[in-house]
Amino acid sequence: MALVTTTEMFKKAYDGGYAIGAFNVNNMEIVQAITEAAGELNSPVILQVSAGARKYANHTYLTKLVEAAIIENPNIPIALHLDHGADFEICKSCIDGGFTSVMIDGSKYPFQENIELTRKVVEYAHAHGVVVEAELGKLAGIEDDVNVSAEDSSYTQPDEVEEFVTKTGVDSLAIAIGTSHGAYKFKPGTKPQLRFDILHEIEQRIPGFPIVLHGASSVPQEYVKIINEHGGALKDAIGVPEDQLREAARSAVCKINIDSDLRLGLTAGVREVLSEHPDYFDPRQYLTVGRANVKAVVAHKIKEVLGSEGKA
Ligand code: G3H
Ligand code: 13P
Ligand code: ZN
Repeated sequence: MALVTTTEMFKKAYDGGYAIGAFNVNNMEIVQAITEAAGELNSPVILQVSAGARKYANHTYLTKLVEAAIIENPNIPIALHLDHGADFEICKSCIDGGFTSVMIDGSKYPFQENIELTRKVVEYAHAHGVVVEAELGKLAGIEDDVNVSAEDSSYTQPDEVEEFVTKTGVDSLAIAIGTSHGAYKFKPGTKPQLRFDILHEIEQRIPGFPIVLHGASSVPQEYVKIINEHGGALKDAIGVPEDQLREAARSAVCKINIDSDLRLGLTAGVREVLSEHPDYFDPRQYLTVGRANVKAVVAHKIKEVLGSEGKA
């Protein structure tokens, strides 16, 4: 199967009450781990590339790794998506460079400017058979060139979504309902709670329209523990409870973004092997374990959180 857009994936996910996992890729091991898990579980999957990933691994290497993954996993639909495109130029570069989906993240701009920028990207993308995700509302946290403090973050306003979607022609919409990027999402001792009331109001205003949830890592405590027991120093890292993600997946949320949990799994594996075997210096010895952890994280998400097993 060649790379696909997310159009059919989202339609089936919306109607079927599940979500597609969008996992960030930065190197060969991560691409292999995600697609092997998805392949074995017969699940559609989105591989997403940030500006930082393109800087680190280079556009060509990443697209060629994804091409290899398609050959190795011919039975599942795979989409290649730009995560948090900051401007028209990076979106154009990814559209021209073989991506099937791009995100234009105009959430830092005033409403009308966000509409104009998003519409410009949509026009170019659709003319080239590529779909577009946009964002309304601001998540707290740090991502590549986007650093939003908790005070500057704000929930998506439901009364803006209809106008935004109609005027831009966008294909899916990322919303802010209390998630944030990175491993430190909620204060220790507090009870994390996503704003499902906002999500449901948005669903009613744009029925049938696919919603995207960023910042959806759960920060598995077993990996935090392994990291800290083997020389790491992660303080009170807390993520989104899985039962709330399951609830989101059953709703209009069709795409759930996960990066931090993959990083934690990979790092836990590498730290554990290296501290238990100080004599090891072959990268294959520790990356094998890191990669296996990433695969286990993705398999767990597909089966226990997203509900996309068997939906390829
Ligand atoms: O949303 C952010 C993703 O986790 C990507 O992170 O920009 O450090 O690659 P990155
Ligand atoms: P996490 O940091 O929660 O994994 O979120 C990733 C993300 O939203 C990528 O766009
Ligand atoms: Zn994000």
